[in-house]
Amino acid sequence: MSKVSILTAGKVHPRVIERLQPHFDLIRLDRPDPALVTPEIAGKVRGATGFNGMPADLMAALPHLEIVANFGVGYDGVNVAHAAANNIMVTNTPDVLNAEVADTTLGLLINTIRLLPRAETWLREGSWEKDGAFMLSPLSLRGRSVGIYGLGRIGLEIAQRVAAFNLPVSYHTRSERKDVSYRYYPSLEALAEAVDTLICIVPKTPETHKTINADILKRLGPNGVLINVGRGWTVDEEALADALENKVIAAAGLDVFQDEPHVPARLIALDNACLLPHVASASVPTRNAMADLTAENLISWFEKGRPVTPVPET
Ligand code: DGY
Repeated sequence: MSKVSILTAGKVHPRVIERLQPHFDLIRLDRPDPALVTPEIAGKVRGATGFNGMPADLMAALPHLEIVANFGVGYDGVNVAHAAANNIMVTNTPDVLNAEVADTTLGLLINTIRLLPRAETWLREGSWEKDGAFMLSPLSLRGRSVGIYGLGRIGLEIAQRVAAFNLPVSYHTRSERKDVSYRYYPSLEALAEAVDTLICIVPKTPETHKTINADILKRLGPNGVLINVGRGWTVDEEALADALENKVIAAAGLDVFQDEPHVPARLIALDNACLLPHVASASVPTRNAMADLTAENLISWFEKGRPVTPVPET
């Protein structure tokens, strides 16, 4: 019996390929572009996978497509509306990255506040703390009160870690969670007013677009620190650059940007911003676990008729 054909579009983790190879006939596309789909490919592809990216026009070019297995927990790069309308299953990689992303978030928070990357550069340049003009970090983690915007599975792990640092935790989500004792604020405005440190871990949805705006930043105050490890879409980057330049808030740590891989020059120019290239889940063990789950979703769909981790919308 001939193997089912699976299309891999754009950058794909090598372990996904390795895991799929024994089960499927793999067709590689350099980028998720429907212009690369030949009639022969269109005639046989039944499953597809990509690194958070499966546009509607590519799905539409594959008339026999049954499933899109997204590599990543966030699936905003997959056109879920098109998938739902065309009865195409979409899967993602939840849970296997929760702890990694939460660990990285705390690392980013500490580096943003205590300026450890700058201290390391200082040492590599041959200096020592007591030499010359070593800059003491103007901020400290001590005494902060931390708000978490988005208390889903990753947000919960972040909250546990923040609490372990003996800092009070509060949060805002659409509805209050009954299974936690952290203080709930029904609005983002009220949360930002109550805390000086705001950690964003919300997905890209129409409701979250540029919700971190000039007003929210002002509410954090001059000691304020913003951390974003969700999606760049959530932050109005111009308003953030204004707030950092004018010391409306003290500092920001960002792992994600609106138009990746573009990072606004205004943010790069700031020394009160700690900037990372979207690496919150980027350790070898975690990316391997994400690759395994991506592959398992496809294998399970074609062997058992159901995937392991379908996204809620499909
Ligand atoms: C995800 O899984 O959505 C992350 O952003 C990838 O690192």
